[in-house]
Amino acid sequence: MSLAVVYTRANQGVDSPLVTVETHLSNGLPALSMVGLPETAVRESRERVRSAILNAGLEFPARRITINMAPAGVPKSGGRYDLAIALSILAASEQLPKAKLATTEVLGELALAGDVRGVQGVLPAVIAARDAGRSLMVPAANTDEATLVVGATTFAVTTLQQACQHFVDQPLDELVHSRNTAQADACPSPVDMADIRGQHLAKRALLIAAAGAHNMLMVGPPGTGKTLLANTLPGLLPTLSEAHALASASIRSVAGQPLNAGQWAVPPFRAPHHSASGVAMVGGGRHLTPGEVTLAHAGVLFLDELTEFKRHVLECLREPLESGTVTIARADYRVTFPARFQLIAAMNPCPCGYHGDSQGQCRCTPERIARYLEKISGPLLDRIDLHVEVPRLDYRELMGSEPVDDLASGSAALRERVVSARERQLVRAGVLNSRLTAAQLESVCALNKDSDALLQQIVERLRLSARACHRLIKLARTIADLESSPDICPKHLAEAASYRGISALSVLPAL
Ligand SMILES: Nc1ncnc2c1ncn2[C@@H]1O[C@H](COP(=O)(O)OP(=O)(O)OP(=O)(O)O)[C@@H](O)[C@H]1O
Ligand SMILES: [Mg+2]
Repeated sequence: MSLAVVYTRANQGVDSPLVTVETHLSNGLPALSMVGLPETAVRESRERVRSAILNAGLEFPARRITINMAPAGVPKSGGRYDLAIALSILAASEQLPKAKLATTEVLGELALAGDVRGVQGVLPAVIAARDAGRSLMVPAANTDEATLVVGATTFAVTTLQQACQHFVDQPLDELVHSRNTAQADACPSPVDMADIRGQHLAKRALLIAAAGAHNMLMVGPPGTGKTLLANTLPGLLPTLSEAHALASASIRSVAGQPLNAGQWAVPPFRAPHHSASGVAMVGGGRHLTPGEVTLAHAGVLFLDELTEFKRHVLECLREPLESGTVTIARADYRVTFPARFQLIAAMNPCPCGYHGDSQGQCRCTPERIARYLEKISGPLLDRIDLHVEVPRLDYRELMGSEPVDDLASGSAALRERVVSARERQLVRAGVLNSRLTAAQLESVCALNKDSDALLQQIVERLRLSARACHRLIKLARTIADLESSPDICPKHLAEAASYRGISALSVLPAL
């Protein structure tokens, strides 16, 4: 029977669902019709496949060819199916043995001359093929990605001819798993904590933020070290777990960003410019590519000069900050990307930057300040656990010797504290404190009588929302974890509350 089936993989968010290419040859006028692909994609693919088959010295069957790509509901775009379509035509016309194609999936775009070109989103396809128990043939240009997954069987091809020979008599060599397992256990950081003068409060807040993956906002005049402080964060974070590293690499693969095996377990640190559009931030566009919030998944999203971002772009952050995912809907389907990131933001308190400064240099009118701060909505602030002032340093703090305290030891030592605090959280609840659900909160963050009484006072005094109250408890839990304290004591709650409602922010709305 002149029917052949070849397996390939689509790209849907960061998943890679199976697509079956069925080709049927029948008698009749020579023609090629494809079902299950959008019209433009069909036209382009048809021409590439025909040229590639002829240029590879193979025969393009002069029969009526019907190709069905199933399931119909999976969005299909780009040239990633070309190789699968070509192989299925060749198998249907008896130029390739059909049986061998059943255990291999293929991915690759064809050039007119028959060369196989690289495609995006290979890594999720490798994972999915491995889980389905099949091997995967990938373009040689994607070899780096294909060799990152443990336990997968992959082959790299450069031409259509080579792909055909693999199924006939010259099997390709299996790619060798390349990842360097001797991972460095520290993440490279552009700035060490020890290099930052003063700013004790902000450093402490950053340590807490790192320990529980809490969101943090720094407010202060120009040149006081806000950007510098944020850039110390990568050095405080532990390396990613295997599952998170794989998720992060899959996202980069789908977004078409380079993958570096040496950076495998380094948490992402994304710092988009404030001119970023909504699509750049949350994802979307014609090919539904992931945005910054997804690229920051399992890592940090740093928004410097927060007030310079467009308001609607900041509002887009509300959904992922709450749910850890972002869903982009199209007329006929929707895609959900992971977006569980830690938000670190920095801003000046007013347009001139000196509002609240002790030297009183601010020249902004109250209306101007109000307009400036309008971009930062109450709901966005409500999702940020730590609000910290980063004031101007006096001369002694800047030039004198640093006080020797528990924060003066530099990033490497602080990182050890973060790692052990995180371990405690993961053993207890399986997730970091900031990611505890309301249901988990009750069992994991039980309060004793004194703490409960204090929390009641805090909630009433600061008029906290239910969300803010929950976030406060989680923050207090992290502060307790940094001290290895099994209980949340009143002092932990008091410190957590001190990161809300401080003077520089009193000008902000809805606090
Ligand atoms: N606390 C500090 N310790 C050491 N150096 C500092 C400190 N604060 C600022 N600096 C120096 O000043 C430079 C500017 O700091 P940074 O960019 O972090 O300021 P900023 O608070 O982000 O300012 P802006 O509000 O204008 O963005 C740093 O590169 C560093 O050289
Ligand atoms: Mg700055």
